[in-house]
Amino acid sequence: MPKEDRSLLERLSDHHREGYLSLHMPGHKENVDLAPYLNTLSAGLDITELPGFDDLHDPEGVLAESMRRAAALWGSRKSFFQVNGSTGGLLAAIRAATRRGDTILMARHCHKAIYHAVELCGLNPVFLLPPVEETFGLSGSISPEMVAQALEAHPETKLVVYPSPTYDGVVSDTAGICAVAHEKTIPVLVDEAHGAHLGFSSAFPPSAVAQGADLVVASLHKMLPSLTQTAILHASGQRVPMPEVARQTGIFQSSSPSYLLMASMDGCVRLLEEQKDALFAAWTRRLETFDRLAKDLKFLRLAGHGKEAGASYPGIFALDPAKIVISTRNSALTGVELKEKLAEQYHIELEMALDHYAVAMTGLGTDDTMPETLARALLELDEAYGPAQEEPAPLEQVNQLPPRRMPLEEAARTAGGLTFLYDAMGKVCGEYIWAYPPGIPLITPGEEITTPLVQTIEKLYRAGVHLIGTRGKPPFTTAALQDEEANPTP
Ligand SMILES: Cc1ncc(COP(=O)(O)O)c(C=O)c1O
Repeated sequence: MPKEDRSLLERLSDHHREGYLSLHMPGHKENVDLAPYLNTLSAGLDITELPGFDDLHDPEGVLAESMRRAAALWGSRKSFFQVNGSTGGLLAAIRAATRRGDTILMARHCHKAIYHAVELCGLNPVFLLPPVEETFGLSGSISPEMVAQALEAHPETKLVVYPSPTYDGVVSDTAGICAVAHEKTIPVLVDEAHGAHLGFSSAFPPSAVAQGADLVVASLHKMLPSLTQTAILHASGQRVPMPEVARQTGIFQSSSPSYLLMASMDGCVRLLEEQKDALFAAWTRRLETFDRLAKDLKFLRLAGHGKEAGASYPGIFALDPAKIVISTRNSALTGVELKEKLAEQYHIELEMALDHYAVAMTGLGTDDTMPETLARALLELDEAYGPAQEEPAPLEQVNQLPPRRMPLEEAARTAGGLTFLYDAMGKVCGEYIWAYPPGIPLITPGEEITTPLVQTIEKLYRAGVHLIGTRGKPPFTTAALQDEEANPTP
């Protein structure tokens, strides 16, 4: 049967049979020896809220107990299972902590879920611009000093929110940020979607819960053995009312949460309770083996891995070693080409690629085949493609955002024509544009389409990065509202 006629299930089965090394989500990496509960989840267990099986929206039995165990494991006051990923958890957390019209301090490189929360909750975002780290061009950490300065300028702030670790594994100083915000009784929400594994081993950075964050949202599925869509919202402290957190988690999730997803979360919690020390020690050993095997790379460079294991970089507070960021700035390959070659020639699937780097995502399910397979493939490609033809272009710090000409929610809902991107310069953008992954907006509705933005989009597009607009298909078209439609915001 031609490939295009094959059903989704057949395609999934084909892909599984082809036996790729998974360096992408989910964190179980199809490793059912590690997490046998994942293989038993099937139609026979897919029930509704029958007697004895509790109710996620009014938990008193087995689910309440499982979430209590999760809270004890991560050290939160209360933990809430999420069947709508970190996306649902972030929407709930932000709505619980704010009121319409509130100002929030948010990192510019927040995931789209947080921008959507801003839109839905009618918030006024003040952006914190992360530094561009100079070796790899990663978005750096949010520092306590940046937060302190912004809180001086915006004392009306009601919430601070940022991602840590980021998609690239960049961690911020959550203890320091909490100290600054809590002094002003402002709660801190950490988007720890990529950090459900933190806090269990000294080989990884500490968790945001342990550092005092009020609200923390973590995708179990990204780094741990739990099914896709499973996440957890941890709530601690007194700054955000617990009943409101509970109520909001009910608003952003299905009233029919899947028992298969919930059983996978329960299984994951129990696995960690019973075996976390041994499992994290094995994961760490595999990463160390990879570092040893990959240390002779000449042109591809690894952030905090290979010969740079344990290195630190200005602008980055800490790196999560679970992520292997492969910089192609000194290589003849782009990040996108590297990702393609690893898949085609070596059956290795990475999580994502941009123009100048690619990300290999390990997880608790990563097994003993990873170090040798990935290191050998990288060494061969490094040798085969050699150095960059030209000096890598210097990285520019992004010190300024495009000017905001219209409130975000209003612009997102205002009708606007699709326009060729180059004709839209100077106009007001009516949509989000992002590369997915990582899902961080390059521009948001209501901001002016500037020349540097168009240049960035063109550069990413030419490098083969998958760009998404919420209305148009960049770079050919984008929704641009006419200048005269815009009401300049004060
Ligand atoms: C930083 C960040 N936050 C939140 C999310 C949303 O997580 P989920 O896919 O579990 O809804 C993602 C997804 O990739 C992410 O990268």
